[in-house]
Amino acid sequence: MPRYHLTTFGCQMNEHDSERMAGMLQSLGYSASASQEDADLILFNTCSIRETADTRFVAHLGHARRIKRERPSVIVGVGGCWAQSVKDEVFAQFPFVDVAFGPGQVHRLAEFLTSESLTAQGFFEFEGFTGDLPASRSRPFQSWMQISVGCNCRCSYCIVPSTRGREVSRPFADLIAEAQTLAADGVREITLLGQNVNSYGRDLRPQPHAFSDLLRAIDAVEGIDRIRYTSPHPKDMREDVIRAHAELPAVCEHIHLPLQSGSTAILRAMRRTYDQARFLDRVRLIREHVPDCAITTDIIVGFPGETEADFDQTLEVVNEVAFDGAFTFVFSPRRGTQAAELTDGLVPHEVKVERMERLVYAVQRHAAERAGRFVGRTLEVLVEGPSRTDPLRLRGRSRHNKVVNFIGAAAPGALVPVEITGATSQTLTGEMSLLALAADPLAL
Ligand code: SAH
Ligand code: SF4
Ligand code: F3S
Repeated sequence: MPRYHLTTFGCQMNEHDSERMAGMLQSLGYSASASQEDADLILFNTCSIRETADTRFVAHLGHARRIKRERPSVIVGVGGCWAQSVKDEVFAQFPFVDVAFGPGQVHRLAEFLTSESLTAQGFFEFEGFTGDLPASRSRPFQSWMQISVGCNCRCSYCIVPSTRGREVSRPFADLIAEAQTLAADGVREITLLGQNVNSYGRDLRPQPHAFSDLLRAIDAVEGIDRIRYTSPHPKDMREDVIRAHAELPAVCEHIHLPLQSGSTAILRAMRRTYDQARFLDRVRLIREHVPDCAITTDIIVGFPGETEADFDQTLEVVNEVAFDGAFTFVFSPRRGTQAAELTDGLVPHEVKVERMERLVYAVQRHAAERAGRFVGRTLEVLVEGPSRTDPLRLRGRSRHNKVVNFIGAAAPGALVPVEITGATSQTLTGEMSLLALAADPLAL
């Protein structure tokens, strides 16, 4: 039986795509190998969102080159956003790569592997959703669901529109059928995926659909206890979507709402199509309908032209919203993007670092404070397995997407009540409530 080794970089969409690659390889008779040294097929699913993603991947590729030198029969494959962004140049830069393919051509990997002549080939046109390929889920009770691919936004810093292409939604009926199949297969939590997940469905013909309709239809599928989605865009965060969090029992009390910058001038330069006031208004609407909702965000520091006053605006929004958590990034110029061409107002490295420190401090302070509100409450936790730091404890997630490490006994996949006794900016700790015995048959 041939063996494959797959390394995944990047976002949840790439993790999803990797599960589909694994599923496809397994249906071709491949089995997973724990190390590249033992593999007949060494695969990479790549990301190019920031320069660090590229350098990390290229270092990994160097290791594959050494293996191939010793064992020339090994096949090296490179999929994902980095491959899509350099296309056939892959073979010029890295002649030992056998097959390269973009995110819309994962199924071509099978074709390549089963063809007679394995000469270097690249596949880069969008032809189909990875979501239509067989999956190999890492946890039986959780599943991704790809609802759209691509992005029609033109954020000036972002490489994604050029790697994932124009937005295309998967048919509504297919998604409902998929949710039903997943539920029948033991899935309790579904995470809907798209680059701009809440603009889903407007391109569907003859019948366009709203994202909130999709939430409603999946909520109605018996057995689906939790629905999450990522990432929404603030411009498409309409009241119907926000209300879905309040009205639909399965839709979790967590919204990841990427801010990027708190300065209206920088938001304009980023081409985000909302300003500070509109962002704050969305937060106000979320808090009005779902007062306990966790709100997390993404922020970029050091965008070209960002002055001290602009950065202060970001801090102001961070302090006003008090996010439950934030991913913070230093601006990284990406090939082919508008922002990479900007030459005015470039922010010196030390200034970026200093702003980042101040931002992280503010973010963590608010995250810790927000997490503190859970202490003394009993939260519903979906058990994922043993805690990573203490194998005597269990680990799971609350509906607010907080990691909870707790004392208790329950099988992975159980939904159990946990009394929260401690909180940091990152995790909660607690003890499983005795009520758990009555709550879920999987709780032991
Ligand atoms: N489609 C999603 C996620 C995009 S990538 C969305 O729009 O929210 C995830 C995050 O990476 C972005 O939200 C942004 O904060 C960050 N990012 C993207 N391009 C970047 C760049 N060139 N430099 C630094 N951070 C970047
Ligand atoms: Fe990139 Fe903007 Fe699209 Fe997100 S919405 S993927 S940041 S272009
Ligand atoms: Fe990276 Fe592509 Fe995701 S660039 S962040 S893997 S969409």
